[in-house]
Amino acid sequence: MSNSENQPQAKRREFVIGVSGASGSIIAERLVRFLLESGNAVHLVASKTGKLVTHDEMNIPAGTRTLFADMEHENLTEWGEKNFYAPFASGTAPIDGMAIVPCAMTTVASVAHGISDNLIKRAAEVMLKEGRPLVICPREAPLNQIHLQNMLTLTKAGATIVPPVLTFYQHPGDSVIEQVDYVVSRILDHLGVDNELFHRWGSER
Ligand SMILES: Cc1cc2nc3c(=O)[nH]c(=O)nc-3n(C[C@H](O)[C@H](O)[C@H](O)COP(=O)(O)O)c2cc1C
Repeated sequence: MSNSENQPQAKRREFVIGVSGASGSIIAERLVRFLLESGNAVHLVASKTGKLVTHDEMNIPAGTRTLFADMEHENLTEWGEKNFYAPFASGTAPIDGMAIVPCAMTTVASVAHGISDNLIKRAAEVMLKEGRPLVICPREAPLNQIHLQNMLTLTKAGATIVPPVLTFYQHPGDSVIEQVDYVVSRILDHLGVDNELFHRWGSER
């Protein structure tokens, strides 16, 4: 037996990505692709409106069964929003982190108030009760007092709010994808996933 066979294998990490009905599904698509390409497993769950908005924004024919038409991977599992039999609906499943990207204000409000009437919200509730990373990428502008209060509640409960803000200090030019990847990178940072998706402040260009 070789030396490497004696070494404990690094555990493949598992993440839940929730896609709700806010604008910005390309952020979720880039995030899921990166996680899969870097050797992680992804459990993907979209709300009913999340699927409609994603198909609309990404020009995927209405009624397509999967969320992202051309994405197939052995480590990608897609779950229905009402499938509470998914393993990650329980804290006993070994999930390393979750992101809700993009997160509509309805889902923000529900998770903040413990209303877990779909699988995205239930999985988020589980992450908070288990003290595991939960990253929320809320998308709305402007934000009213209710939105802000709900996000404060989520932060106090242990979630990290990463809004899809624009970046300028790294001179992204006019590329939307660079702006998207900046947000994806900040989400990955808070899920504890190494990435070099953008030029970090203070690093060599
Ligand atoms: C095309 C489209 C874009 C939307 N964009 C947003 C958005 O950016 N932010 C938001 O909070 N809601 C947005 N909504 C409204 C949500 O989809 C709606 O509130 C829905 O109830 C969200 O449900 P969910 O949180 O279960 O996905 C949008 C709806 C549509 C049809």
